[in-house]
Amino acid sequence: MSLNAKFEVLSFDEAEAALRAPEDAARPRTLVVFAGNELAMSERVKALLKEAQAQIERAAGATKFKGKAGSALEILAPVGVAASRLLVIGVGAGNSDDSDKPAKFEDYLSLGGQTAGKLAVGAAAVVLFDLPEAPSEPAAAAAQFALGGWLRAYKFDQYKTKKKDEDKDGPIEIQLGVADAESAKAHVLEATHTAEAVVLARTLVNEPANVLSPAEFARRASELMKLGVEVEILDEKAMAELGMRALLGVGQGSENESRLVVLRWNGGAAGAAPVAFVGKGVVFDTGGISIKPAASMEDMKGDMAGAAAVTGALYAIAARKAKANVVGVLGLVENMPDGKAQRPGDIVKSMSGQTIEVINTDAEGRLVLADALTYVIEKHKPAAVVDLATLTGAILVALGQEYAGLFSNNDDLSERLTKAGTATGEKLWRFPMGPYYDKLIDSKFADMKNTGGRHGGSITAAQFLHRFVGKTPWAHLDIAGTGMGSPSSDVNQSWGSGFGVRLLDRLVKDHYEG
Ligand code: BES
Ligand code: MN
Ligand code: ZN
Repeated sequence: MSLNAKFEVLSFDEAEAALRAPEDAARPRTLVVFAGNELAMSERVKALLKEAQAQIERAAGATKFKGKAGSALEILAPVGVAASRLLVIGVGAGNSDDSDKPAKFEDYLSLGGQTAGKLAVGAAAVVLFDLPEAPSEPAAAAAQFALGGWLRAYKFDQYKTKKKDEDKDGPIEIQLGVADAESAKAHVLEATHTAEAVVLARTLVNEPANVLSPAEFARRASELMKLGVEVEILDEKAMAELGMRALLGVGQGSENESRLVVLRWNGGAAGAAPVAFVGKGVVFDTGGISIKPAASMEDMKGDMAGAAAVTGALYAIAARKAKANVVGVLGLVENMPDGKAQRPGDIVKSMSGQTIEVINTDAEGRLVLADALTYVIEKHKPAAVVDLATLTGAILVALGQEYAGLFSNNDDLSERLTKAGTATGEKLWRFPMGPYYDKLIDSKFADMKNTGGRHGGSITAAQFLHRFVGKTPWAHLDIAGTGMGSPSSDVNQSWGSGFGVRLLDRLVKDHYEG
């Protein structure tokens, strides 16, 4: 997972010294500074831009640049500045769109993304991270800025054999001048791991299913061993012995064998109950015998975004050596129709002993999660379990692509997750659950059926999962709208977003570290 941007953290003085070094003709330099409303700039930036001030004001007037957040001004060959380009990035008031709000970490993340978006691949830049209104934690803000840059610069282009010239120039090289360089260096290093973790998840989501089979996904996840993660891979035989007929039924129409991957990071107290993350990993979802229409079916290569997020989260947690016990479980299957495929009406017995009537073979994710949840709860007795799944199209109808759906049997866990969502920008919205919805999945022939009719489709899916968690504090995140097919943003231009990686890492950092 190489990152497409390089950050060298410097003090302000060192950054200004870097500007005095001669410019490399092959890599013209860009100087980046920040301006608030009405072109407010820090004293240091004003002093540095002395001779160019008039030019900046004139250009700002001509382009109506007022320093609003999200806007930028570009000046070529500025007078008296040792750079070929000057980029003035607007931060608005309080570095937030909304003038009265205090700056949030998410704003620094976006700012990093916006900045990287204005720099060409292979560009060299000096960024003076001296905002008109200084952040309360400058080192942490600088790290969020760098993280935003890395996330923005990510590209999934390894299958393009005819790369454009501008894509051959290597990573953006940024010298980042900050207030507290020593502390910022440590924060930026930690952010490197976070960036790598998100990039890992995005790449897994973007990979086509002819490359990323369950076995190949398991192989890639097992590379986390290098970080000290314990990896266990269960094949179909091992799962059959455990009675995982719900999960195995989904994969039985595919030539590619199913896998269950268990990732364990034991950074916490020995014997302390872990927090568990479970990911839906349907590497391709044709719908099975209840086959999907052809339009956009190719998107179903991303139906493993939950498993990708769990893999990325374990990467982040292990890379920063979190003082927590965390277990990640990936349910990896391919949902295909063939002579051996399961049929509508089939009844399967799950690992929990409960029986399920399969009404629709396209409601497969919940079948996979049912056994993965039972497995992790029985085997690892977690203090809490969070599952992530591209589970229902209905969540897109309800929430669009901005929030993921949150379903839970526990108010504390819900609140922790919601807070982590706000802090990272991976936002969650909680849905109701209860007996009325639960009874919609009662079956005539078995303990339950795998669909609950047209109404409240995301909720009845969650009620199904709820039947497999007992009293364990549990939350389910439906990421069908946020994990893939993502709209471009300041920090993401990729189809697979890596949604959930930063959220879970944050949850562990805030609540499960000793
Ligand atoms: N993987 C799909 C859900 C999905 C839809 C994810 C669109 C991303 C984008 C899931 O397996 C599915 O097919 N769900 C069905 C459930 C229905 C048959 C009860 C759905 O949402 O239509
Ligand atoms: Mn499906
Ligand atoms: Zn699916």
